[in-house]
Amino acid sequence: MYKKGNIANVTTHSFSRQAGLPVRADNLTELIKGRRSVRKFQAQPVPRELIEQMLEAARWAPSPHGRQPWRFVVLSKAEPKARLAEQMGATWQENLQMDGQDAEIVNTRLEKSRQRILNAPALIIPCLYLEDLDRYPDAKRQNDETTMAIQSLGAAIQNMLLMAYELGLDTGWMCAPLFCPEIVCQALELDTRLIPHALIPVGYAAANPQRRERLPLSTLIVRFD
Ligand SMILES: Cc1cc2nc3c(=O)[nH]c(=O)nc-3n(C[C@H](O)[C@H](O)[C@H](O)COP(=O)(O)O)c2cc1C
Repeated sequence: MYKKGNIANVTTHSFSRQAGLPVRADNLTELIKGRRSVRKFQAQPVPRELIEQMLEAARWAPSPHGRQPWRFVVLSKAEPKARLAEQMGATWQENLQMDGQDAEIVNTRLEKSRQRILNAPALIIPCLYLEDLDRYPDAKRQNDETTMAIQSLGAAIQNMLLMAYELGLDTGWMCAPLFCPEIVCQALELDTRLIPHALIPVGYAAANPQRRERLPLSTLIVRFD
């Protein structure tokens, strides 16, 4: 519905363990701790039903006033992925150059990001959609409303990442669209009321990535009366 001239035809699914899929986690703690960001994928495609199950999980996230301020774009074909990578490339280049990086490093990082988009079997682009939120006469409360929507989008993304892991899939997270949402809309001919916030590559990990350490819980709890 949010791609001009193309009505999305997405069926809903209930949550269920799929026959024949590896069960990676026996309980929620294992699932939460098992998920990790993957940056290299096998070429194996991801069945549409599994992507739909991820999005089904996303839509059960909490949201301000229950307004569900999110919409999702899914790409699996080579052509739109290439168009997206190409059009985002110019912004990446500008940002990296602004950081004062030398040309060779800029080119290497650009190519890495480009390859991550092109080689992801599927990409989900979670978009913020603010049209159904409350309107306030003052900028302060309007910004707060937007912040709530962004928090909620993060919750929806985490739901989909965990569901992916449960389904035997792996995911990454690229924040690049946040820096050029208009370019993403333009490249994919999206309704400009959508604000693309991330790229979530989805597939089957090419190798087991290194785990990122976590800070000890004792350093995170600043007060517990
Ligand atoms: C808002 C957000 C933006 C992120 N952006 C990127 C990114 O642009 N590129 C990337 O490789 N990883 C990105 N990540 C993934 C983090 O690097 C990763 O979650 C973190 O290092 C912890 O590792 P883990 O996900 O394997 O537990 C992002 C994560 C979040 C939550």
